[in-house]
Amino acid sequence: MEKCPVYPLRSLLMLLFILSLFVPSMPLPTETQALLRFKENLKDPTGFLNSWIDSESPCGFSGITCDRASGKVVEISLENKSLSGEISPSISVLQWLTTLSLASNHISGELPNQLINCSNLRVLNLTDNEMVKRIPDLSQLKKLEVLDLSINFFSGQFPIWVGNLTGLVSLGLGQNEFEVGEIPESIGNLKNLTWLYLANAQLRGEIPESLFELKALKTLDLSRNELSGKISKSISKLQNLNKLELFVNKLTGEIPPEISNLTLLQEIDISANSLYGQLPEEVGNLRNLVVFQLYENNFSGKLPEGFGNMQNLIAFSIYRNNFSGEFPVNFGRFSPLNSIDISENQFSGIFPQFLCEKRKLEFLLALENRFSGELPFALAECKSLQRFRINNNQMSGSIPDGVWALPNAKMIDFSDNEFIGIISPNIGLSTSLSQLVLPNNKFSGNLPSELGKLTNLERLYLSNNKFDGEIPSEIGFLRQLSSLHLEVNSLNGSIPLEIGNCERLVDVNFAQNSLSGSIPSSFSLISSLNSLNLSSNKLSGIIPESLEKMKLSSIDLSGNQLFGRVPSSLLAMSGDKAFLDNKELCVDENYRERINTTLVTCTGKNSQKGVLNDELLFFSIIVSILVCVLAGLAFVSYNCSKISQTDPEASREGDRQGAPKWKIASFHQVEIDADEICSFEEENLIGSGGTGKVYRLDLKKNGNTVAVKQLRKGDAMKVLAAEMEILGKIRHRNILKLYACLMREGSSYLVFEYMTNGNLYEALQRQIKGGQPELNWYQRYKIALGAARGVAYLHHDCSPPIIHRDIKSTNILLDGDYEPKIADFGVAKVADQFQSASEHSSLAGTHGYIAPELAYTPKVSEKSDVYSYGVVLLELITGRRPIEDEYGEGKDIVYWISTHLDDRDNALKLLDIRVASEAIQNDMIKVLKIAVLCTTKLPSLRPSMREVVKMLSDADPYSSSMSLNNSSNKNIKDFV
Ligand SMILES: *[C@@H]1O[C@H](CO)[C@@H](O)[C@H](O)[C@H]1NC(C)=O
Ligand SMILES: *[C@@H]1O[C@H](CO)[C@@H](O)[C@H](O)[C@H]1NC(C)=O
Ligand SMILES: *[C@@H]1O[C@H](CO)[C@@H](O)[C@H](O)[C@H]1NC(C)=O
Repeated sequence: MEKCPVYPLRSLLMLLFILSLFVPSMPLPTETQALLRFKENLKDPTGFLNSWIDSESPCGFSGITCDRASGKVVEISLENKSLSGEISPSISVLQWLTTLSLASNHISGELPNQLINCSNLRVLNLTDNEMVKRIPDLSQLKKLEVLDLSINFFSGQFPIWVGNLTGLVSLGLGQNEFEVGEIPESIGNLKNLTWLYLANAQLRGEIPESLFELKALKTLDLSRNELSGKISKSISKLQNLNKLELFVNKLTGEIPPEISNLTLLQEIDISANSLYGQLPEEVGNLRNLVVFQLYENNFSGKLPEGFGNMQNLIAFSIYRNNFSGEFPVNFGRFSPLNSIDISENQFSGIFPQFLCEKRKLEFLLALENRFSGELPFALAECKSLQRFRINNNQMSGSIPDGVWALPNAKMIDFSDNEFIGIISPNIGLSTSLSQLVLPNNKFSGNLPSELGKLTNLERLYLSNNKFDGEIPSEIGFLRQLSSLHLEVNSLNGSIPLEIGNCERLVDVNFAQNSLSGSIPSSFSLISSLNSLNLSSNKLSGIIPESLEKMKLSSIDLSGNQLFGRVPSSLLAMSGDKAFLDNKELCVDENYRERINTTLVTCTGKNSQKGVLNDELLFFSIIVSILVCVLAGLAFVSYNCSKISQTDPEASREGDRQGAPKWKIASFHQVEIDADEICSFEEENLIGSGGTGKVYRLDLKKNGNTVAVKQLRKGDAMKVLAAEMEILGKIRHRNILKLYACLMREGSSYLVFEYMTNGNLYEALQRQIKGGQPELNWYQRYKIALGAARGVAYLHHDCSPPIIHRDIKSTNILLDGDYEPKIADFGVAKVADQFQSASEHSSLAGTHGYIAPELAYTPKVSEKSDVYSYGVVLLELITGRRPIEDEYGEGKDIVYWISTHLDDRDNALKLLDIRVASEAIQNDMIKVLKIAVLCTTKLPSLRPSMREVVKMLSDADPYSSSMSLNNSSNKNIKDFV
């Protein structure tokens, strides 16, 4: 072993001291200078570049590699370091640089032209950043082997010069915002290319034949463009290909049989094109296939038998085609199949029985085909299955017992078949189930009480079968249930009182059974209930008064044996159809004058106690006066639930003196006089939003007050379409009701229910006497919960889900009881699987409420609504505005909050002191935690709105103020 020379410590220190005297006076080497300038232009929140300081050699800088021999910088690797800022042109000084990789940061700005001076560059990887403008011509960098500029915001012309970079092995330009262009013919020069990623790059035209000369290619991804023409049989030249991604294009023609020469192929996705014809039999010989996806094309004929012999297939999706005939018998027998979707085809014959042979199947989707016969017994052993949908086939026989007990099944959908037999009591073992969908079959027998064990169940659809017996009282254990449909069966007995425990129910339908007894008043405990249909049963007794307070959007009690007074608010909401055909239901006389009804007038005999209470007497006097005033006025009531642009009644209204006709679409039973609607006065302006001005208007006819929104010209049609499409359809007590919509000659008006207490933003600023805020914590909590329910309804109960995209306190309106209603759906969007490129630019939302991810990805998701909702929660908790000077330049409430969460005392300082009495501080802190969760930077870490509702319920100040066991001493450490 060689011995190191040992210097006495003292002289070593001396030497260092002397050296340090000299260092400052020596100019820094240019490479160090260049790198420091490079650092200067970057923001480095995690301090990864802290080791980059003035020094002789940059070789110790983190992320930098030097050449051993020359000491020159050859590599900069700073992947995924949360860097933002821009790339400094100073980098061009680094003549020896071979690798520059800054992938997965937030770097913006342009790619500096000077980069072409780094003539030794072999790897340039800037994928997944936020860079903009045109990519400079880099074709002089002749040594480039890896050029990955994908997933940025580069624009300008598609860089056709890449055809000169003949040394390239990997080329990624996909997911940028280039002008529409074509794949350059010269791409065929890149003979060494193994990886080509041009997805989502606005490419159209045909795939150039030269591309098939890239014989080294392993991955070819041209997905999400507008490429047209046929798939050339020359594709068979790509002998090394193992991944072929052509989905979402405009390709047409048939799949050439020659594709089967690509024996190394593991993944094929040609979904969402316009291909047709039969799948060549030879495709069945591609034995290495792992992923095979052809959904949304026009393929027809039989599936090649060879698919039954595959041994590696994991995912198979061919839904929405025209395949027919029997399904390959052995499909799945030798493959670790995980998901199969063959829905919306014409497959017939018996259902394939080996799909779960390897016990890996999680997703089995075969809806809308023509399979017949019984469900294969083998599926009872498929414990891995999560989603199991075979609705709309012609299957019969009973369901094997074990299928009811699948432990991981979240959704079972057997609807629209001809199944018979019972729901096995083993259903109680299927504890993951959230949706059980069995309508339109011939199932029979009792509803097993074990259904009550499915505590995750959200939807139970059993309508139109032959179920009999009573509704089990265990249904009350289903605390997550939101939809319960048992209509058109032979159920009897009374409705269990326990239904009132199903606190999340939104939608209940028991119509057309033989239910008897009275309507349980416990329905009124379900505060989220929105729609109740008990029609055509044998229910007797009176209508519980408590239903009146529930703010239902729809009720139907017709065809029963009910008697007594119909609560007037129910009548006003649903019209008299909902009460016809009963034993003896009646309406108060004074009310008859307002509503055109065939129901009889209540007399002393049939009206129930308490009918003529003071409130009603007062009301009836007012009404009588109004009636006199209004006598003689025409009475038009619109009743269409759908948009009817040429409503004959509506046009009659506007057909006066050749005036242009009104087009009216009406969604609720409110009388609308078109000319009256536009007679609002400027002094009644109550608000002015992004999409138009809103006026208050007292209707002459019935004394109702409505809000009329006059849409700004230009936006009008887009906003109209969005609001009508969404609000016209949905009904929820926390979503603003749209009564009608009127159009004439480019002017458009939306008529909404009027909200006495205005919007939440203003209400939070208002004070009552003594300087107290108008909203105390109890009211704020109620608003938080109601608004959360409204948004949760949009996200989880609408199909497809609706993303509001502009949740903020000014879009949450308050009625007379401070019940919140979500409003302004002008920019809302129906959630869609694929967003088109054109949507990239349509960024919606309001400063202070926009989720951080929307700054760099156009993908709007439910989670961005959750963020905005979290900001509203913060407003409720702090009484502050989303943006205030105090937070600091460019900072918002979310940032400000984040700086105060280190301990409980600091967190307490955040609460609005005007409402945060000692007794409720803990509840407020609970809500603060929820708000912090909702505004988490990473969308995936935010809770869903359904979870938010659940968590909020735990922070109920009403319940905890009564509970002795509160956790006020617990120190809040889990904040950070
Ligand atoms: C670029 O870098 C990212 C992140 O390290 C990596 O995933 C990707 O494969 C690289 N691109 C190429 C073409 O090597
Ligand atoms: C790129 O190739 C084209 C045609 O092959 C040629 O005209 C052009 O000069 C080349 N550009 C560079 C920078 O080499
Ligand atoms: C392509 O790769 C081969 C083998 O690695 C290499 O010899 C050749 O120089 C490369 N071609 C170009 C144009 O760089």
